[in-house]
Amino acid sequence: MAQSKDGWGSRIGLILAMAGNAVGLGNFLRFPVQAVQNGGGAFIIPYFVSFLVMGIPLLWIEWAMGRYGGIKGNHSTPFITDSMGKKRIWKYVGVFGIFTNLGIISYYTYIESWTLSYTLKSIGQSFTGLSRAQVSTAFDNYVGVHGTLSDRIVDINIPHWAIVIFLITLAINIYILSKGLSGGIEKVAKIGMPLLILFGIFLAIRGITLGHTGVAGCTTCNSQVGLDFLWKPDFTSLANPKVWLAAAGQIFFTLSVGMGTIQCYAAYLKKNDDIALNAMTAGWMNEFVEIVLGAAIVIPIAVGYMGLDWVKQNAGFMMAFKTMPYLFNQWGPLLATLSGVAWFGLLFFAGITSSLAMGTPFMGFMEDEFGWKRGKSSIVLGIIVLILALPTIFFFEYGVFNEYDYWTGTVSLVVFATLEVILFSWVFGMKNGWEEITRGSDIKVPTIYKFIIKWITPIFIIVIFITSLIEPVHTDMAGWQSAFHQLFTNGTWPWANDSIIAQIFHLNEKIVYFKNGVPTGMFFKDMARLLLISTFLGLSYLVHIASNKRKLANKTIES
Ligand code: PHE
Repeated sequence: MAQSKDGWGSRIGLILAMAGNAVGLGNFLRFPVQAVQNGGGAFIIPYFVSFLVMGIPLLWIEWAMGRYGGIKGNHSTPFITDSMGKKRIWKYVGVFGIFTNLGIISYYTYIESWTLSYTLKSIGQSFTGLSRAQVSTAFDNYVGVHGTLSDRIVDINIPHWAIVIFLITLAINIYILSKGLSGGIEKVAKIGMPLLILFGIFLAIRGITLGHTGVAGCTTCNSQVGLDFLWKPDFTSLANPKVWLAAAGQIFFTLSVGMGTIQCYAAYLKKNDDIALNAMTAGWMNEFVEIVLGAAIVIPIAVGYMGLDWVKQNAGFMMAFKTMPYLFNQWGPLLATLSGVAWFGLLFFAGITSSLAMGTPFMGFMEDEFGWKRGKSSIVLGIIVLILALPTIFFFEYGVFNEYDYWTGTVSLVVFATLEVILFSWVFGMKNGWEEITRGSDIKVPTIYKFIIKWITPIFIIVIFITSLIEPVHTDMAGWQSAFHQLFTNGTWPWANDSIIAQIFHLNEKIVYFKNGVPTGMFFKDMARLLLISTFLGLSYLVHIASNKRKLANKTIES
């Protein structure tokens, strides 16, 4: 076992890297969309509660797991979880902590590449003078979307430029990763994070001060209307399970918890390094960027020109590319260029500091277990990401991209978080766990968290997990009641399309793989699933080999 020897250069570097890991496209693209789709102000309370009882505990748990594993020479979750629980199964649970990262990085780096090319396009002023429809079509052409699904496979548009820029983005990531933590990631975080915050403040000020834009016939075309919509708390949402699911899902994604990424970064800490304060600094920095900056840009500016109803109907993360450049045009050529560069530049920095983090668990694993050097592990990572990413690029329109996002960016996190919180609080035990969290701490961790981590967090996550498994079509309280009523009277359950069970078994759709001899969207989706399952199995097999190698090494030492 040759262990990954890297380390962090400075505390500020570590915090910026951890904050960079958390602050990502999720803060600027996913958060505002989730908030709008879940009633704006109605979203905020479940979001904060999820942050306090699930987000913060998971941050502490994962930082503690990482440092604990790192001291023993384990820099990725399979053998971190293995060292915390006696049963063999735990190391396979740890496979999630590599798998999720590989799955997410594959579609995430693709979006990141759009932000790079849109930064370049903004510098080249290629959106100047375009109408909204033209800006929107430019994006569809860029990613090779027809608008209507083709019934001839040969018709698939090959998005040449998108592929070239994707390859460049991937190469940049691999190059930085090959330079290591202090020599690569930390340097990027130290430049990227301050710039991102600067760009974000600039755009947020625009969003907040825009006010009435005077669009004829549109009374809600006022950025304040957008801000009010996001910020007026609505307590009725507390009784709506759907909003809770969305809020908890956003907390997972934005903090990068339940993914194995934080454990990997924290594994390069020393035995008595602070965890409690570092985790809070990085976590709250993420929240500042998300709820202050993330909420003050896309939605208020879009409402300013398009009105609240339009935004409610059209909210989606594509808005950042399909609508924003056109809105910036309203500010005259100079400001439009500056804003375009600030917006896409900000997204690029947010993206790259996250995708770098997603690359590290696989590399740490190969270096620890198979004695690989950083150069080799980064290149192999690049090849795997390329293989996984190509289907999302070629078959983007057929839903492959969404399929990856659903399984690795939504489901897998909840599964892993459920298992790891059980491992930490109940198997490893709260006595050991609390000692790990508080050792070397520069703040006093409120003792109430001992209770929260042991009881509230596990129960909260398990409820979230079960709810997402069996979610009924109508997910408000009345919907659940009628679902149970239906269950007891007819013995059937009205599955929601995106409940995990309905997805696994395609319960709400007809299973058709070929139509007139041509593969359907479902065919592509299931192929994507097959690829993801194979990745998981492949990683499990590597863990199996590594574990045998370790046993053999131990035997040799003993004899
Ligand atoms: N937290 C990042 C975001 O908000 C995404 C991410 C996922 C980062 C997985 C690291 C690992 O965009």
